[in-house]
Amino acid sequence: MLQPDHSTVLLAVAAILMGWCYFFLQRRKTGDHRRLPPCPVRPWPLVGNMFSLGEDIRAQFKAWHKQCGDIYCLYFGNTLLVVVNGFTTIKKVFVQNGAVSSDRPRVFFNEVAGMGQAGLGFATGATWKDNRSTSLQILREFGMGSTSNFLADTVRKETVCLVNKLVEKEGKTVDLLYFARVSMANVILSMLIGRRFSYEDPRFKNAVERMINVAESARGAGAINFLPFLKYLPGDMFDAKKIQVNLKPFADFLVEEIIELESNGCSKSDTVERSADNFISSYKRRQTEKLQSGKKTSLNYENMIKSALDLFAAGTETTSSTIIWCVLFILHSTDVQSKIHEELDREVGQGRQPTMEDQKNLPYLGAVIKETQRLASVLPFSVLHKTSKEIAIGDFVIPEGTTLMPSLDSVLHDPQIWGDDAEEFNPERFLDKDGNLIHREEFIPFFVGPRYCVGEAMAKMELFLFLSSMFQRFNFVAIDPENPPTLKPIIGVVSVPTPYKVLCVDRFK
Ligand code: HEM
Repeated sequence: MLQPDHSTVLLAVAAILMGWCYFFLQRRKTGDHRRLPPCPVRPWPLVGNMFSLGEDIRAQFKAWHKQCGDIYCLYFGNTLLVVVNGFTTIKKVFVQNGAVSSDRPRVFFNEVAGMGQAGLGFATGATWKDNRSTSLQILREFGMGSTSNFLADTVRKETVCLVNKLVEKEGKTVDLLYFARVSMANVILSMLIGRRFSYEDPRFKNAVERMINVAESARGAGAINFLPFLKYLPGDMFDAKKIQVNLKPFADFLVEEIIELESNGCSKSDTVERSADNFISSYKRRQTEKLQSGKKTSLNYENMIKSALDLFAAGTETTSSTIIWCVLFILHSTDVQSKIHEELDREVGQGRQPTMEDQKNLPYLGAVIKETQRLASVLPFSVLHKTSKEIAIGDFVIPEGTTLMPSLDSVLHDPQIWGDDAEEFNPERFLDKDGNLIHREEFIPFFVGPRYCVGEAMAKMELFLFLSSMFQRFNFVAIDPENPPTLKPIIGVVSVPTPYKVLCVDRFK
């Protein structure tokens, strides 16, 4: 066996001691640590609790919640991370103290994109406020929660393309996730740059695949956010290179499209059919108005590109995963699918495509969508936040500059809110005794407080229009109905089902 010599042992001991000193000095810098929330496990020098997470992160966080209560501390590297659980405590931290809990920490993705904290999703301060309010105004102008039908029409056109594609695949097994992803990417692109792409377009397919690769690398990249030196380790153990290799082509695709759009005066192009209503032209118009009025603004080219990228990335994987979770849950409860079909046949029939007007008459489908979002909990730990000032929560103090992790899982799967069957798929929990859809305050898959999801109303529209059209036309059947595909998720940025294939049986034949 190889025996270490004395100097190696001394060096190792010195490194560990220095690690401890560094760690505790950093810890003291974070303020009065006697009033910090409890730590469920002792942190290790240098790495903190990063290797205490285990294989099943969800189960681990749940166990720590049970052990420590609604707020507890972890150290990722030497960074203090406070995990916030439970509906009441999440509201206290992110709504009542929303003004000081809505910054973002710096993350590796943005560093790779070379855009620091530009844009919307990872921006902070005035840049975030300007770009968030501008993006919301544009989405509302396009029909998110308003009377304009532009967005709804765009979504409905894309559902027709998806349904036609699935009809072509009738009798064959289908990877629904792929088609859901390209459909959702097309909806966002239609809104951003005014055009959609054929599912077979190689540039488009490549961009979507690159985006998925980046999303899947999130777990490794999460570690790099806290211990930047990990990106230099050989063998790409933490997916740093995978992110670098994939992020650029994904970003380049959108930037090239934006440049082409701009060269055509931001509307119709000679080569492709474009809608004059698009995010880019609307953003630029607002930017010009602000500049002409002499108002200070963060609306500029870099923030426009990054906001567009953020919307593209945030709006594709979340909605597509929700759609395939819904079909997967239904493969496990076929009686639910029969009830959806019954309601759709009665209220819409088979002669026309469902519209947003039908939503009020389809409470059962509404309950299925809510229950899917609750149980799938596609963003189980939302997105990291950072405090801009110290926050006092009960006996605890969260120092300024602390990274916060909101656990949406702890609310969406809480048996005290949803009952003992919280881990089961049961749409009836969102219906009253007369079958009307009910609103539950604790249903927060889109988060709460100043940083709630910008695309919430658009996502709800997409989920309703896609799922109503899909169920109207198809009966989804498991390849082996006795053994439907596993419900085990793959957790990256988003919780996605383990890939599965399904048979789409045409109900109109
Ligand atoms: C089922 C679909 C969706 C779910 C469950 C979802 C959920 C969320 C959640 C939990 C956050 C994080 C809030 C936080 O803690 O900071 C978020 C942020 C965000 N979402 Fe969504 N989202 C969905 C669809 C969309 C769509 C369709 C878009 C784009 C049109 C979008 C754009 C964004 C953006 C830009 C942010 C960052 C907002 C900010 O930082 O101020 N999302 N979303």
